[in-house]
Amino acid sequence: MTNKEKTVIFSLTSCEDLANKVCEELGMKKSCAIVRRFADNEIFTRPCPDTDVKNKDVIVIHSTCQPVNDKLMELLIFIDACHRGEARTITAIIPYFGYVRQDRTIDFGDPISAKLVANCLKAAGCNRVISVDYHSGAMEPFFEGMECKELYSSSVFAKYYRERIKKFRISLSDIVIVSPDKGGLERARHLSKALGDLPIAVLNKYRPEPNKAVITNIKGEPVAGKYCLMIDDIIDTGGTIIAASKELLKNEAKGILICACHGIFSKNALAKLYRCGILDIAISDSIPQEEDVVSIVSLAPVIARYIDEHF
Ligand code: R5P
Repeated sequence: MTNKEKTVIFSLTSCEDLANKVCEELGMKKSCAIVRRFADNEIFTRPCPDTDVKNKDVIVIHSTCQPVNDKLMELLIFIDACHRGEARTITAIIPYFGYVRQDRTIDFGDPISAKLVANCLKAAGCNRVISVDYHSGAMEPFFEGMECKELYSSSVFAKYYRERIKKFRISLSDIVIVSPDKGGLERARHLSKALGDLPIAVLNKYRPEPNKAVITNIKGEPVAGKYCLMIDDIIDTGGTIIAASKELLKNEAKGILICACHGIFSKNALAKLYRCGILDIAISDSIPQEEDVVSIVSLAPVIARYIDEHF
């Protein structure tokens, strides 16, 4: 049996379309999982009885997006079931890793919820955790006793924007890559490189209170007369992107294009974003979207490549 024949891929309720695309790219069949609720709403999930996971390398593709706690429990219970079914290894591919932003303490006594989630995955029987565009570099040490790997969305966004800018008659030489905060600089570097080493500007951001973003100044390459292609990991309330866009336009940027791996869009964020004059917004399919109002770029090639190279 080859490694691929020993590998079974499942998806749960958050990433079915993405997992289907991954399987299509790999030429593999997705295996069947049961997910149902008891009368009191508790979750029951496991591989379908006709899918034997014993001695297999199980891959489960599932984002722990909203409702975060439900999606997390779903994943943990499924991993527990595979562990009890004597899977050889269990890999959780979690395109959007809920609680990822709670990766450090700010005040004494704060929780580090991202670490707690990593502990829960380990306790459930997970051997390897793969995610895309973490919030920061803090995550890796949290996965004690498990392998972990961060994948990047920059290649799929670079491909998307190479084509998309033609619609706006923008050429690559008109673009500055922008990170809305220092924490995102590495991400901006990846995108810059994928587009042929474009210049980079970084904004200084601070949060006077949770979910509120204030931009103080811009560092790096000048943005005046340029189109700013801003990359972030997450758009949640939209506060960061809106504050950053205002600052860039104040500094005479010609136009703003946005890409962010994870589109959470809380609190009517999308409407607010479009009101501030952004030309284009692209997100990935790490989190399924109800409305078809932004461009969605699939992470399937990135995830399929990882699976192909490692299984
Ligand atoms: C954080 O600091 C992250 O990189 C994102 O910039 C942030 O999570 C976006 O959140 P919001 O859209 O609410 O400003």
